[in-house]
Amino acid sequence: MKILAFESTCDETAVAVVEDGRTILTDQIFSQADLHAVYGGVVPEIASRCHVESISLLTERALEKAGITREEIDAVAVSYAPGLIGAVLVGVNFAKAAALALGVPLVPVHHIRGHIAANYLAYPELEPPFLCLAISGGNTLLIDVKDYTDMEILGQTRDDAAGECFDKTARVLGLPYPGGKPIDELSRGGDDTKYSFPISHIEGNPYDMSFSGLKTAVINLVHNAAQKGEELDRRALAASFTKAVSDSLVPRAIAAAKEKRRARLVVAGGVAANSRIRADFQKAAAENGLELFIPPLRLCGDNGAMIGAQGYYEYLAGVRAGSDLNAFATMDLNASFS
Ligand code: KG4
Repeated sequence: MKILAFESTCDETAVAVVEDGRTILTDQIFSQADLHAVYGGVVPEIASRCHVESISLLTERALEKAGITREEIDAVAVSYAPGLIGAVLVGVNFAKAAALALGVPLVPVHHIRGHIAANYLAYPELEPPFLCLAISGGNTLLIDVKDYTDMEILGQTRDDAAGECFDKTARVLGLPYPGGKPIDELSRGGDDTKYSFPISHIEGNPYDMSFSGLKTAVINLVHNAAQKGEELDRRALAASFTKAVSDSLVPRAIAAAKEKRRARLVVAGGVAANSRIRADFQKAAAENGLELFIPPLRLCGDNGAMIGAQGYYEYLAGVRAGSDLNAFATMDLNASFS
């Protein structure tokens, strides 16, 4: 079954064709990051306008690269939430028109479910159940994935997402947007014990997280040093910061996997590209006898293929959207469409 999939929730316009949820026939991505970099973050209206400009061309290119005709498309999948509302609307409306024109079903996909499904593309042997940590620019969630479309949120950030924390830290250090990769590069070889940063503990739920205190601690450290004219060890700062993020995430994910008796641990989302976090997960998983799955770098960030992968399983579960499908800035991971 071939699914034409659309992703436009933030600053990547992406169109893919995925076969049977596991094989990428094509994955076309246009990243707007350079356009937003001058502003130090995503400008929602610019993102929406850019999606409008690029989505038709990307779709034509996707069909051409997949080497298939329009008649071979069996369904259309679209990321309908959560995200920047104006941006999501572009993908949703285009997908609705595509499904109508092709005369095929329209399948709505929750963006975070898509990030999780990126792992199905990378690891053909991976099947639920497993424990998943989803870490992206807008979301940080610990999820018990019981089945392809049956998930339970065990914990989540109470404030900033992990990726947002990377982006803000990069900004205060004068690094370009998006800041995760530049911080990753800067941190390599840095002394991660030089600066000590807070790690949150949330009363009431050991799996909930918070990153706003860490973000404020970095900002205060940098501003205080500037006021006193002190030079900071930027490499050590980036390494100490990344260690604090990793120490907030890895032990929680391991504990949740053990509590839920899951043998497999899956990491998903843009922040899963971080080299330190990947290495810490490898080590912790090995020590705890867990099988670890992290997507290759190209499938960590937003892409259309992950929407096509999850779209397949949503389709099998009978999930369909009507012609009144709307876009949503926020949406529960378990919102029901069937
Ligand atoms: O999943 P994603 O592409 O978009 C959302 O769905 O939000 O994630 C983007 C986030 C950004 O905050 C970016 O800085 C972060 O992922 N990121 C990284 C790395 N590469 C991207 N964070 C840490 N280390 C990286 N290597």
